[in-house]
Amino acid sequence: MKKIYLIVLVVLLVFTVVACSQENAETTTQASPGETEGEMIELTLEELSQFNGKDGNKAYVAVDGIIYDVTDVPQWQGGSHNGNTAGQDVSDQIANLSPHGKRVLNNLTVVGTLVEE
Ligand code: HEM
Repeated sequence: MKKIYLIVLVVLLVFTVVACSQENAETTTQASPGETEGEMIELTLEELSQFNGKDGNKAYVAVDGIIYDVTDVPQWQGGSHNGNTAGQDVSDQIANLSPHGKRVLNNLTVVGTLVEE
């Protein structure tokens, strides 16, 4: 009888260990860099310039150090909008030249931040 208890105990222990390690594996996968959706990136001005919305590239613009994705904004199709080109810092233009100001940023996806060289 004692032997059966011992076997049941060992089986339960094995199950617990397996369940725990699987849970850990999932957590690790979710948290691993490069795989998380919505992860923030850091770009210099030079790196940002690649995201010009042309030749299949994404269209990103920076405003006040924050990088926004304008790829799917109809007004930014082809990477340009009223004399502005994607892949650039448009902080001054949006604040001083655009009729809408920064309210148009509210609906955009933030992809990251602008950093120094
Ligand atoms: C993240 C940056 C920007 C986004 C998402 C954006 C988005 C838009 C949208 C949605 C409109 C349609 C009308 C409205 O909602 O007011 C518009 C119009 C306009 N935007 Fe922008 N804009 C951006 C930056 C700029 C900048 C930097 C300028 C600088 C000159 C500018 C100039 C204009 C002008 C002149 C119009 C009115 C004429 C038109 O409809 O084409 N925008 N923008």
